[in-house]
Amino acid sequence: MERNRQLRLARHIKEHEAVSLDLFNITEEDIPTPGEGQFLVKTEALGTSPAQRAYLMGRDSRFHPPLAIGEIMRGRGVGQVISSCHPDFTEGDMVACSTGWQYYSIQDGDQSKSPVKTLQKIHQPQTPHYLHLGTLGASGFAAYFGLLDVGRPVAGDVVVVSACAGGVGSLVAQIARLKGCRVIGIAGGPEKCAWIKDVIGVDEAIDYKAGDLADKLAQYCPDGINIYFDNVGGEILDLALKNMALKGRAIICGLISTEYEAVAPPGPRHYYNLIYKRARMEGFFVWDYFAEFEAAESDLMGWYKYGDLISTEKVYHGLESAPEALQSLFAGIAAGIKVIDLDR
Ligand SMILES: NC(=O)c1ccc[n+]([C@@H]2O[C@H](COP(=O)([O-])OP(=O)(O)OC[C@H]3O[C@@H](n4cnc5c(N)ncnc54)[C@H](OP(=O)(O)O)[C@@H]3O)[C@@H](O)[C@H]2O)c1
Repeated sequence: MERNRQLRLARHIKEHEAVSLDLFNITEEDIPTPGEGQFLVKTEALGTSPAQRAYLMGRDSRFHPPLAIGEIMRGRGVGQVISSCHPDFTEGDMVACSTGWQYYSIQDGDQSKSPVKTLQKIHQPQTPHYLHLGTLGASGFAAYFGLLDVGRPVAGDVVVVSACAGGVGSLVAQIARLKGCRVIGIAGGPEKCAWIKDVIGVDEAIDYKAGDLADKLAQYCPDGINIYFDNVGGEILDLALKNMALKGRAIICGLISTEYEAVAPPGPRHYYNLIYKRARMEGFFVWDYFAEFEAAESDLMGWYKYGDLISTEKVYHGLESAPEALQSLFAGIAAGIKVIDLDR
């Protein structure tokens, strides 16, 4: 009889340590039974997110308490409701939610006490279902709301996207192109730059590891940057601020280059340019848009179905491959959105 298989945190990660299977204990338990107001989800696939490094570090992640040793690794997954004692969820429903790195999870349908709502019912499931963790899920929503609601692009805008070969970045670049913008993508290494040009369709690609980012930004954006979509922070954000156009918008999505450093680096030096360019820099949090996910999903799905938006999922296979998938995200090993198909 099948049992619930899990990856539990065996110890906290050290600074700059790679994410590996050694950090976890593999455990097995009986499949749990849902109580009143709960339902049981059989996970099909797991997503990855930079936020998971905070869990591995045992750090307070603002919306969750630190992950203790022995707990199941926290993470988002997509799966099917297979048994329910909740009036709003029935067997066969597809959901994306915080499943953790395990085969089965009990979900409490009541989100009223959660600081952020993350339990999402999928009304029009698309195959493969892991698309609802990436292109048609959290990555897609971050790209969609960050660019369209915070950035408010208009045709002809010059949009610069950092971590452009990553999950969110590769979707931002495509949506910006759909809106008639000129897109400059920043990525690490010649292979990723070729990929964002040939597959994602950016107008220009800049390899930030080549050492000429400042010159290339000035060359490709002679009239300045109208929208800078930032996934990385640090030096790249600073150079983008230096090159803002009048009334430019810097959208702060993430800061992966500095977020997990023990000592926070000095802040951007070029923020004075926000004054001279009457520009604005604004952060956003994708889960604040939870109530609008269904509308966004419908737009993303429409573009996806007509081939205007390509999905970039890079699929890893099996629960034990989850650490490798997450490591790939941090080390920038592969392009696209990293998901783990549990292959069950
Ligand atoms: N605000 C929100 O609500 C929200 C929601 C989702 C995600 N996020 C944030 O959005 C960003 C992208 O997330 P994602 O899931 O799509 O991850 P991702 O872009 O697929 O993966 C991260 C990428 O960042 C790049 N990177 C890593 N270290 C770097 C460094 N030191 N300097 C420059 N680039 C570096 C790597 O690409 P290269 O190989 O090109 O360096 C890596 O592939 C993250 O910062 C995440 O925290 C925010």
